[in-house]
Amino acid sequence: MSTAKEPVVQVLLDPDWASGSLVEDVRRGFAAHPRALPPKWLYDDAGSDLFDEITRLPEYYPFAREREILIEHAAEIVTASGATTLVELGSGTSEKTRILLDAFAATGTLECFAPVDVSEATLRFAAEQISARYPGVQVEAVVGDFTLHLAHLPRSGSEGGGRRMVAFLGGTIGNLYLEERAAFLGALADTLESGDSLLLGTDLVKSSDRLIAAYNDDQGVTEKFVLNSLRVLNRELGADFDLDGFSYIPFWDAHMERMDLRLRSEMPQRVTIPGADLVLDLASGEEIRVEISTKFRVSKIAAELEAAGFGITRVWTDDHGDFALTLATKP
Ligand code: AVJ
Repeated sequence: MSTAKEPVVQVLLDPDWASGSLVEDVRRGFAAHPRALPPKWLYDDAGSDLFDEITRLPEYYPFAREREILIEHAAEIVTASGATTLVELGSGTSEKTRILLDAFAATGTLECFAPVDVSEATLRFAAEQISARYPGVQVEAVVGDFTLHLAHLPRSGSEGGGRRMVAFLGGTIGNLYLEERAAFLGALADTLESGDSLLLGTDLVKSSDRLIAAYNDDQGVTEKFVLNSLRVLNRELGADFDLDGFSYIPFWDAHMERMDLRLRSEMPQRVTIPGADLVLDLASGEEIRVEISTKFRVSKIAAELEAAGFGITRVWTDDHGDFALTLATKP
């Protein structure tokens, strides 16, 4: 008889964002050229819900393509990883992870599932659901920032016998700059042990028309999602951004091979951000970068992983060649 294990939720993030790194991020970001906000502040509870809506838009192909790859190859991935612990970084609702969890259930090898996300509400909901559905699996959720809290990733079996697979899906690594990706992958390789692996989802370079459509949907959900970052600053730092004074400008940077998502000030305006002790004078037409979404080529993914100390075990793409999943192993 299997006993259901209660999910454990470890909170590593200060629930009061304004007292944490948001202030520093805002001060540093708004002093930069172009002015910029780190994308993690897009994912408060409202932003996480909006992103969830984005994944259901017809134009937003990465979600469906990655799911196709998982459906087709989950069993192979599970076997190739040999893992007993599955860690998921930036897990959100863990919707696609269920495909992996089902494949693990079929082999009966999974002991521990550790989803990591900045959105506590989303994470608690997912932890409850997954715990109920896979009663033999210990769920150890971590409310945290995957760029900061890698050292806290759980592993099954206190003797340290089992292998871990860290899933980093959705193409989220593309939201980091090249130097940030190198630092993140290097730190991850350092915390993993020999035989542990990384399952990395990356969106691939394709026609600019399709890329722009994916980030500029007809229903305006992506625009709402990006504008929500200003709402976060209004709420958390007492700022007075007037959302109507900005328009959403997504563009494809062909040289850097990335989408660049910005908000443009439509008039000269002064914004005060008391929580960050900041007064911002924005010129008409001045832009704030809210997110980049880098697109990859298979060779570029392999080069970055190898430079960080991983070996490439296997690469899967969907039939359209839109998206790639790479299993990389620490030697
Ligand atoms: C899931 C974070 C990778 O970059 O495609 C979607 C976020 N932003 N639409 C992406 C996003 C605007 C998404 N990531």
